[in-house]
Amino acid sequence: MLFARHALITLLLVAVIGACIAAWIIVGGRFDVSVAAQLPQPVHDLIHQTRVNAVRREARHLQAPPVDLEDESVLFPAVLGFQSMCIDCHHPPGGQPSELARSLNPKPADLSDAAGKRSLEELFWVTRNGIRMSAMPAWGTTRSDEELLAIAALLTRFPTLSAERYGELLESARAAGFSQDPNTWHEREDSLSKRMDSNWH
Ligand code: HEC
Repeated sequence: MLFARHALITLLLVAVIGACIAAWIIVGGRFDVSVAAQLPQPVHDLIHQTRVNAVRREARHLQAPPVDLEDESVLFPAVLGFQSMCIDCHHPPGGQPSELARSLNPKPADLSDAAGKRSLEELFWVTRNGIRMSAMPAWGTTRSDEELLAIAALLTRFPTLSAERYGELLESARAAGFSQDPNTWHEREDSLSKRMDSNWH
């Protein structure tokens, strides 16, 4: 009985001290919100690994339809989409991080490197849903799954795509008459939606 009372008093004391520390931090603004401040490396690595695992878990139910990447015209809308939506933060193969990318924390991933380690579904999931507490936007808020899947498929080519081939792809996409406006893509006979089962997820 005496032991239970002591345990209860200790618990209460711990709770009161915890609340005081929390108030000291929150009310006193004692938290470094600066983007320039770097986290200690082990903390950074822990957060990074948690993010990688979380995306893997979220994407495990997705099954992307087979996309025939041998036919490069599948990638025409994707390369234009990448130019308009991603290029500010992620450089294409052979490129250098932009000024904006260098100013962010966490830094935008080098997609030529990251794409080699992730599945098509994981790349699609991140592109559609974004990453909390980072600058990575949830493009699914405004863009269709079809458009984002094509971009994710393009990313799977990044590890082996040279800067020259990327440039040629971009030129071919423009020459093929794809406009920058994705809302018009589904009207085309060669659009991705006409080539795949619409109930794929
Ligand atoms: C405003 C900046 C910004 C834009 C624009 C942006 N991203 Fe990102 N992206 C980030 C940041 C920052 C991260 C890293 C987040 C982290 O480390 O937690 C990231 C991470 C990613 C990842 C995860 C890579 C990995 O390691 O698994 C993918 C995939 C990705 N972005 C794809 C895209 C695509 C595709 C687009 C365009 C449709 C895009 N991003 C546009 C900032 C951006």
